Amino acid sequence: LTTHSPQQIALLSAAEKSKMVHELCQQLLLTDEQVQELCYRILHELRRGLAKDTHPKANVKCFVTYVQDLPNGNERGKFLALDLGGTNFRVLLIHLQENNDFQMESRIYAIPQHIMIGSGTQLFDHIAECLSNFMAEHNVYKERLPLGFTFSFPLRQLGLTKGLLETWTKGFNCAGVVNEDVVQLLKDAIARRGDVQIDVCAILNDTTGTLMSCAWKNHNCKIGLIVGTGANACYMERVEEAELFAAEDPRKKHVLINTEWGAFGDNGALDFVRTEFDRDIDVHSINPGKQTFEKMISGMYMGELVRLVLVKMTQAGILFNGQDSEVLNTRGLFFTKYVSEIEADEPGNFTNCRLVLEELGLTNATDGDCANVRYICECVSKRAAHLVSAGIATLINKMDEPTVTVGVDGSVYRFHPKFHNLMVEKISQLIKPGITFDLMLSEDGSGRGAALVAAVACREDILNGK
Ligand code: GLC
Repeated sequence: LTTHSPQQIALLSAAEKSKMVHELCQQLLLTDEQVQELCYRILHELRRGLAKDTHPKANVKCFVTYVQDLPNGNERGKFLALDLGGTNFRVLLIHLQENNDFQMESRIYAIPQHIMIGSGTQLFDHIAECLSNFMAEHNVYKERLPLGFTFSFPLRQLGLTKGLLETWTKGFNCAGVVNEDVVQLLKDAIARRGDVQIDVCAILNDTTGTLMSCAWKNHNCKIGLIVGTGANACYMERVEEAELFAAEDPRKKHVLINTEWGAFGDNGALDFVRTEFDRDIDVHSINPGKQTFEKMISGMYMGELVRLVLVKMTQAGILFNGQDSEVLNTRGLFFTKYVSEIEADEPGNFTNCRLVLEELGLTNATDGDCANVRYICECVSKRAAHLVSAGIATLINKMDEPTVTVGVDGSVYRFHPKFHNLMVEKISQLIKPGITFDLMLSEDGSGRGAALVAAVACREDILNGK
């Protein structure tokens, strides 16, 4: 790129430009050796998170969720759920019924940007207000219902209904919440209003919710995965391995661990595969130096990664004859959904690709440009799928069970046309011979899963005669 001026490069043939694109994208492709090395490193970091003496300094925290029982299909009743931390904030009313049947009503509420980075009190007052409005609209205003709170951030849990926020991730950064008990903050906000009554039965991560909602139907489901705004996984671990968990019931052999693997690499463990584009994303994020793995994978960053590659190639004259646009040059305006749309075009057809480029104000793209744009998207999404696969394969190998179902949710997994297949292929290469696995799309894990965790907790209350 340095020996030719952008003007000279723009005059090269389509084949020569395509070759340059492929060369520059080489750094985004992971070799089999690199993926294998990633598996070793992830395993090492998981162990550091689980063990008492290394946990305080570990990046991958492996938080204990206090969930030990999976749903058995006998859960019944009416539950409220809150879902905070994905693309939207939602309040849900879920009715679990016979025969794995359920009814669900939900509403999405906006969390304005100023609240996402405002004070914690403002945030929880807003949540309580939405909850109260929802209860009024759904005629349960006067009832005292059990509630499951899906709070999709790293939580140091002290029990099923107590958890201290370790750090904010994704786009949130509200003052006065880190190290506080989030359940208490919610209860306080509800008490400040004084109009509705609820019973918080559980606080959980979205990965936990995803696992629970799949496990309701499929008892082999032992891993929950989110590839959405953020990226994270939880899995069923043997109690002896979870050194931070003070087991109470010797009959229960497993406990669910929320890995919070988004923070993998914060100590440099991923530097051997990070690129200039990853470093750019990190420097301009609201949490530099944090969530290194997540920033290479999740929907909050994938579009921006593609944009950075596009900008670099355009400036070099390889794409669009060197002509950029204001939108292309603006951070955050290449949405991750564009990656899915572009890759959904049939090979050789660029209908979606051209629509996206038009939205970006790039109207003079040649077919060669479109093919290159598509290739860049493929490299970025494939790398994300391979990174996630390394993580999942590591968990599957560590669990060492003959067959495992992985419950999966999140916008990237759901909407990207090839993510599922890329993952199946890579995980198959990485797991021990003899183990089988499958990836199961979760049906609204954050909502229904929250109700299920709450329901299982209630089920036990009854069993224990509390
Ligand atoms: C971030 C959060 C994590 C969550 C994930 C997916 O990584 O820290 O708790 O599970 O996003 O939403």
